[in-house]
Formats: sequence, structure tokens, C-alpha cells
Amino acid sequence: MLRTRHPVFIVGAITLLGWLVFLYHAIPEHAFSALQSVDTSTAVTDDTAVTDETVHLLIPATEPNNQFCRVLFSALINDYPSPYLVNYGKKYDDPAIARAQKIAGLNEYLLKSTVSRNDTIIIADGFDVWFQLPLDVMVSRYRLAQQNDTSRTIFGADKKCWPNDPNSPACTRAPLSSLPDGVYGPDTDQLTIYRDQKAKYDNFRPRWLNSGTAIGPASSLHAIYEEAWRRIEDKQSTVKSDQRILADVWETVWSIFWS
Ligand SMILES: *[C@@H]1O[C@H](CO)[C@@H](O)[C@H](O)[C@H]1NC(C)=O
Ligand SMILES: *[C@@H]1O[C@H](CO)[C@@H](O)[C@H](O)[C@H]1NC(C)=O
Repeated sequence: MLRTRHPVFIVGAITLLGWLVFLYHAIPEHAFSALQSVDTSTAVTDDTAVTDETVHLLIPATEPNNQFCRVLFSALINDYPSPYLVNYGKKYDDPAIARAQKIAGLNEYLLKSTVSRNDTIIIADGFDVWFQLPLDVMVSRYRLAQQNDTSRTIFGADKKCWPNDPNSPACTRAPLSSLPDGVYGPDTDQLTIYRDQKAKYDNFRPRWLNSGTAIGPASSLHAIYEEAWRRIEDKQSTVKSDQRILADVWETVWSIFWS
């Protein structure tokens, strides 16, 4: 059974849509901080409901725009719980720093007492994701993927390893795609002159970690984000990419458990 806090969600949805469509230029701060407080105050864990499942939707987004509207609206109509907006309203001088700070914001959320270890966490980037599948379909497919390992976390896959060094283990040791060889034609996985600069990697099978989407149990995601945040703090410098750090963490886990 999926428990997604519907009454709050629907009221939030209608109100929010009004704001989004008509007022978001005028009062974005109020609209979205209201949404955040609705979510945190109602995400109460019911310890007796062992088979029940709580799904949390986390959307990192510092400000509203058309793309943000798209992810939010597609989540609403596909029955996702009301989202928690990570780092909303925060100002960063450099977009790269904003990306790295997503790690801090997500880690902070995963530490909240309102999140249980077995809760399912869905992370969707605020600016380039939209939902096409309803929540129950998404979760049932995720359950299939978890068949042999309930701690399994799934990240989106990228066609290009970036911004990591292409010769670093995070890039070279990533497991191969499960798609068939030659799926994009004879130049599958090769840089060729047939593709223009913009479409340069279109013919690569997705294989590398993309930090824009993830789904997993809270306990696993917390372990991953805590380690990522620890590495950022260790460097004592400004790490400018969440994806870079997460790909490194993933490579470490991969080399310990599966190689
Ligand atoms: C979490 O899931 C594990 C494995 O399915 C189970 O053994 C454990 O009892 C669950 N814990 C809670 C608090 O529901
Ligand atoms: C689970 O393990 C079985 C047996 O090894 C395998 O056939 C199946 O593909 C695995 N499922 C997943 C989702 O990895």
C-alpha cells in the first residue's frame, strides 16, 4: 500500500497551481516556503505500519522557472506526494556551487526524524526532469529492480561521464550498459564525425552516474549523501559539482561490493 498523504497533497496542489500559473513571479518565496512547511509538518512516521510505505519526493530547486513548473506539475498529476524543495530560496553566486550544495540540502533532509530508514526517497532535479509514469507504476518497477537487494538505490544514467576526468576510475570502471551492442547503429559508443557537436554523445549507451534522478530506501541514500558530503567537507575547497562527487562515491561502493 502506498501512503502519500493525499488530503494535504491535493489542497497543496490546487493552491500551488494557482500560484504557479498566476503569481509565481510576484510571490515565489511565500508560495514555496508554505509548501515546505506543509510537507515537513505532516511527514509523521507511523511505526506500527510496517507494510505501509512512505514515499518522499525531494526536488532541489533554488527558484521557480518554467522547467521547475514542469517537474512540479507532472509530479502533481501523476500522484506523487507533495515535494520537499531542497535549498529553495537560497542564493549562490555560482550555479556550480548551487549544484554542489544540493548534497548538503539532501543530506540534511535525510537526517530528519520524520524520515524512516525504510521510507522510499525519490530525488528529481528541479530544472530538467518531468514525470511520465504514475507513482504506483514507478514504485512497482523499482520493487522489481530491488528483487535481490532491498537496499538497492537507482540513479539515472548518463551518456557522457562528466565532469569527472574521463580517465578517472569513476568513468573507466563504471559497469557497462545492459543495452545491446550497436543499439544506436554502427557508431554506438564512439565519437564520430557523423554527429555534430551538440549530438556528440547521443549514440552512447547510458552508463555513467547522473545525479539528477535517484530512487532508493532512505537508509541507503543517507549513507551515500553523508559520504558525499563528508568528501566535500574534507576537501576544504568548494566542490562545484554534486555529480562529480556522487560518481566518485558510487565507484568506491562499486569497487568494494561488486568488482
Ligand atoms: C525495514 O525493512 C527490513 C527489510 O525488509 C525489515 O527487516 C525491517 O523490519 C524494516 N524496518 C522497519 C522499521 O520497518
Ligand atoms: C535476481 O537474481 C536472479 C537469480 O540470480 C536473477 O535471475 C534476476 O535477474 C535478479 N533480479 C534482478 C532485478 O537483478
